[in-house]
Amino acid sequence: MKILRVICSPRGTASESYRLSQTLIKHLIDAHRGTDLIITERGVTGLTHVDADYAQAVSKRRDPASLVASQGALLQAEQLIGELESADCVVIATPMHNLMVPSALKAWLDHVIQADRTFRITAQGKVGALRDRPVYVAVASGSTFSGVNAHQPDFLRPWLTTVLASIGLIDVRFFTVEGTGQKPEALEVIRENAERAAAQFFLDDRVA
Ligand SMILES: Cc1cc2nc3c(=O)[nH]c(=O)nc-3n(C[C@H](O)[C@H](O)[C@H](O)COP(=O)(O)O)c2cc1C
Repeated sequence: MKILRVICSPRGTASESYRLSQTLIKHLIDAHRGTDLIITERGVTGLTHVDADYAQAVSKRRDPASLVASQGALLQAEQLIGELESADCVVIATPMHNLMVPSALKAWLDHVIQADRTFRITAQGKVGALRDRPVYVAVASGSTFSGVNAHQPDFLRPWLTTVLASIGLIDVRFFTVEGTGQKPEALEVIRENAERAAAQFFLDDRVA
């Protein structure tokens, strides 16, 4: 089984989202004992934003001449799409930044969500072209955004759900560690609760 982990925090492996994603990966390993596992780690904080060449190339993809001329600009996107296509499941480790996904994750999505490649435009709207597969999203936030104690709106989960669906990824589950700005003792409890929720999910998933 191939797992693609997309790491979106500027704090990398020291981040809370990475930490929670480690828990998810451990559960996935447990659930697939006896299967060969390949984990591809894709850090996205160094990705460049899509540039003029890229935008030009994508808008003219139906013209084979322009496609050849612009291969350089599409190369990075093609590599990222290839990693996504070959994964059996995806783990996204992301912070909440300004109520949303961080710009690094947005940059990755701008590369992998590509017309005539990962989705088609039809009279009925966008139709995803990728095979569906489980996507597990580990979200870390300084304050709370879910449940009755939410201190802020959540644009991250609804937006990410919608854009992933546009390329065919429907089976998306969110796990959260909310309130990372708390004092160390409180943060420890928050982490434990997040880990317990993940353990329960994978237990239920195995029983189902
Ligand atoms: C640029 C920036 C914007 C942030 N915006 C929010 C926010 O809107 N809501 C929130 O709860 N926390 C916000 N935070 C705090 C982070 O979500 C929090 O520190 C979280 O633990 C970061 O995840 P990480 O540890 O995986 O990097 C923000 C942090 C940064 C650096």
